[in-house]
Amino acid sequence: MIYVSMTGEESEVFDAKEFIENSLEEIRKAVGGNRVISACSGGVDSTVATFLVHKAVGKNLIAVFIDDGLRREGEPEFVVRTLKNLGIRTRFVDAEKEFFAVFKGKTDAEEKRKAFRDKFYRTLGEVSKELKIQFITQGTIKADIIETVKGIKSQHNVLEQIGINPEIYGYKILEPLRELYKPDVRKVARELGLPKEISERMPFPGPALSLRVLGEVTPEKISIVRKATEIVEAETAKLGTFQNFAVLHNDKATGIKDDKRVYGNIITIRIVDSEDAVTAKVRLVNYEILMKISARITKEIPSVVRCLYDITDKPPATIEFE
Ligand code: XMP
Repeated sequence: MIYVSMTGEESEVFDAKEFIENSLEEIRKAVGGNRVISACSGGVDSTVATFLVHKAVGKNLIAVFIDDGLRREGEPEFVVRTLKNLGIRTRFVDAEKEFFAVFKGKTDAEEKRKAFRDKFYRTLGEVSKELKIQFITQGTIKADIIETVKGIKSQHNVLEQIGINPEIYGYKILEPLRELYKPDVRKVARELGLPKEISERMPFPGPALSLRVLGEVTPEKISIVRKATEIVEAETAKLGTFQNFAVLHNDKATGIKDDKRVYGNIITIRIVDSEDAVTAKVRLVNYEILMKISARITKEIPSVVRCLYDITDKPPATIEFE
């Protein structure tokens, strides 16, 4: 649809209703009478993709939530509850130990990301074999593909576009959102009537907290960054920023706890505004908010002695540290 503004400028306006209609038809055509699995992390992209396929094929869809031990506080319960409320059949896969095992000894960001991707697709492959389903839906969006193809990072959910045939894992992939950017995915979510906690949900990466532990990922480090993330999100919920989170460093720094010198952990706080994650600007957050976050993190997480605020836009930084 072409929209003509008051000044006569023409621009294309995304029509969510039209997108949904076309998408449902496309999904039905692609899937036929087959059954489909949808990998759903509870983020806006994967939940919209899951709900679209559910609308298109009903009971022939089974959503799969993989609990990799890397999710935020309360997130597995939230996702399962949300899918249930939407009437979607769901399979919960407890794979925590197996995911931590693949991170053992890995410190390089890309190596960690690839290890996550491989484990993620192998786990889906096992579920698809068990349920005898050869179709997998995922919420890949345009920015994921562009950044992976450009070589900025290997987004965990991009395979075919970089020459990996998903059939090596035993299935075909369905990506109904591959042509959309984040703001349009949100419009589709609103048009579909999904709850606000989904349509307005802050973006969260597929490899989850593993990207927010610099260096080797262990259950102990994940539990530190999980708590710090909970504090940052709670103290910044009203800011309306694009992403707000905490990162645990691989280095340590000197501090004082209970009148004793401690060589403890360092947490960086990152709060950015963005439209589509392709570029981002640091939010000039009030110091009182930052000081409160720092006070809470260093008090509530005994091993942390220092909090930093990242003041780098994207570019030259990326949003995530890894
Ligand atoms: P960067 O760090 O590249 O992130 O500026 C851009 C957006 O993508 C998210 N992100 C990911 N999402 N798998 C995902 O599903 C990934 O591997 C991944 N890496 C980054 C990041 O949170 C931000 O919203």
